[in-house]
Amino acid sequence: ADAPLVLGIETSCDETGVGIVQGHTLLANTIASSVEEHARFGGVVPEVASRAHLEAMAPTVERALAQAGVAFTDIDAIAVTAGPGLAGALLVGVAAAKAYSLGLGIPLYGVNHLAAHVAVDQLEHGALPKPCIAMLVSGGHSSLLLVPDVAKEVVPLGSTVDDAAGEAFDKVARLLGLPFPGGPHIDRAATSGSGTAIAFPRGKYDDGTYDFSFSGLKTAVARWVEARLAAGESIPVSDVAASFQEAVVDVLTRKAIAACREHGVRDLLVGGGVAANSRLRALAQERCDAAGIRLRVPRPGLCTDNGAMVATLGSDLVAAGVAPSPLDIPADSSLPV
Ligand code: KG4
Ligand code: ZN
Repeated sequence: ADAPLVLGIETSCDETGVGIVQGHTLLANTIASSVEEHARFGGVVPEVASRAHLEAMAPTVERALAQAGVAFTDIDAIAVTAGPGLAGALLVGVAAAKAYSLGLGIPLYGVNHLAAHVAVDQLEHGALPKPCIAMLVSGGHSSLLLVPDVAKEVVPLGSTVDDAAGEAFDKVARLLGLPFPGGPHIDRAATSGSGTAIAFPRGKYDDGTYDFSFSGLKTAVARWVEARLAAGESIPVSDVAASFQEAVVDVLTRKAIAACREHGVRDLLVGGGVAANSRLRALAQERCDAAGIRLRVPRPGLCTDNGAMVATLGSDLVAAGVAPSPLDIPADSSLPV
């Protein structure tokens, strides 16, 4: 029999994402983003995001159904991000998913956002090796995970103790006068700069944990820029961008490889918005090649928050025979993986 059609809903941050998959085949992936409404605040404003989700929810579902060429009544199961994320934003997706589940008489699966970021890679590169190590780096999270089976067991190894990697990119970009979200602008500016021009600190580099810290780096960049300005000197934006970026991706790739080594794992998955970073992709590939580790990075459209990732994990849960969620599952802003 054909694998069930699963519709996934993602509303943990500023993207209203709806995806439809059948097994590991992608049928639709539609997004409505409120990122432009947040740009003038330099960061995501929770109340603005919640309202935008509310307005975008039903139309985005309709667009996904049209893109997949299926009707509501063809859908076999609903999956939704139950957490972690912004409480009010999650609530909109969870409420919508419950309504669809109840109205259509189909099972509901509340899923973890981080596990969904891992599962989505299967749409592009096939079933995940068991186990694999996953590094998720975005505006909201920076985590290293040991993944024996994405549908059943995901073990957190470490995460950021302060800013997320993408948050550090965004804050440093702001410091350099680059627009929000700053990651892609730093990436671009860095191509004409040198990653070794300025020796910025690498937090928690040799501490033997899988945790990250980026706030010290951010402060070091701020101090460096202030000192130049106070001396009446101009800021070499490309060199600052490249040197900051190098410090971030050096720590990220070093710890990801160390986790693979310690756990005897030969496959590393990198996901989340920061996985779009060209230097991170290049250095991860270089270090994986040297260590005999296979690297999987989904295409950028699957790395950033989207509904297909939620549908993919939902599909895996159905396939694994995991029991559906009760209709009263809460949205949990700090849901553990
Ligand atoms: O996964 P995502 O779309 O949303 C969150 O869940 O946060 O990630 C967005 C983050 C932002 O901080 C953005 O600046 C960063 O990913 N980002 C990048 C790049 N593209 C997006 N950071 C560095 N280099 C990039 N090319
Ligand atoms: Zn995310």
